[in-house]
Amino acid sequence: MIDLTTTYLGLHLKNPLVASSSPLTQKVETARQLEEAGVAAIVMPSLFEEQVIHESLKLDRDLTRGTDSFAEALTYLPDVGQYSIGPDAYVKSLQKVKSALKVPVFGSLNGVSTGAWIDYAQKIEQAGADALELNLYSMATDPDLTSAELEDQHITLVRHVKAHLQIPMAVKLSPFYTALPNFARQLVEAGADGLVLFNRFYQPDFDLEELEVVPNLVLSNSHDLRLPLRWIAILYGRVPGDFALTSGAHTGVDVIKSIMAGASVTTITSEFLQSGVKRLPEILDEITAWMTEHEYTSIAQMKGSMSQQAVAEPALFERANYMKVLSSY
Ligand SMILES: Cc1cc2nc3c(=O)[nH]c(=O)nc-3n(C[C@H](O)[C@H](O)[C@H](O)COP(=O)(O)O)c2cc1C
Repeated sequence: MIDLTTTYLGLHLKNPLVASSSPLTQKVETARQLEEAGVAAIVMPSLFEEQVIHESLKLDRDLTRGTDSFAEALTYLPDVGQYSIGPDAYVKSLQKVKSALKVPVFGSLNGVSTGAWIDYAQKIEQAGADALELNLYSMATDPDLTSAELEDQHITLVRHVKAHLQIPMAVKLSPFYTALPNFARQLVEAGADGLVLFNRFYQPDFDLEELEVVPNLVLSNSHDLRLPLRWIAILYGRVPGDFALTSGAHTGVDVIKSIMAGASVTTITSEFLQSGVKRLPEILDEITAWMTEHEYTSIAQMKGSMSQQAVAEPALFERANYMKVLSSY
């Protein structure tokens, strides 16, 4: 008998496959399809800081009709588009998904500044979320901002959000921190129960005809797995807290690699968007077949077995890999 169960953020999960935030986890119908296909938990799409501010500015406008402050204030906020719904609709949508599903449902907040918008952490909890994912998606473009200042802002935010919560909280990160292990440890000390590595950065493109910068979403492939794989392997055993891998998991083998690096769960979006939710049971079968062939009996047995601390040549996670890989071409 193969035991696929795992523990993540203190929750006991039937297998390590989690559906990460995406349009698939937004609606009851598709969330149910994910559950029926065997997913162990789902993460709702994010409620964006900008969206909460938008709504409160609208309310402000209604209360102070006749002033220009609303239109002016909105010009400072990016257009959040169709995908992101308003905060109250978000909470209702979470309630609906939660009551339709048996597997754990995580809410997601996306923002970087402290402010009244983080009260929504509590509303998400009250709506029934089993955990919260806090997505720290930011670009450090200001030359006057030092890495220490930026990290302090993010750690302060994590501490504030955690102070509002009873449920566990994971922090979804970008790979662009100069000293990731130290920062990761500080996040855990500030209250993160888990770290989700790494946010996928959607690089904008240029439209040369219109001379415009255009958003451009490219789904991941299995090569994208290497970055989170390496960093989870480096952090596992050094930084307390659980790890979830996001970006680049498409197959059962990708999931096994992520567990062996030290992840408690592997989260997937692109594969389901590209090839359908039917991939979920196939990936579970791929995992079981691989484990049977290689005589593993549980996820726990594999977890962290290829982390930097566990492998025979730990230097291969560092500069030695760079030198070896160049000479291997
Ligand atoms: C269409 C789409 C919408 C997404 N929406 C969110 C979101 O609201 N919040 C979030 O944290 N991540 C969001 N993501 C990122 C995914 O949750 C995931 O981290 C990313 O796609 C990398 O995983 P993958 O390689 O399995 O696709 C979105 C991704 C896609 C493709």
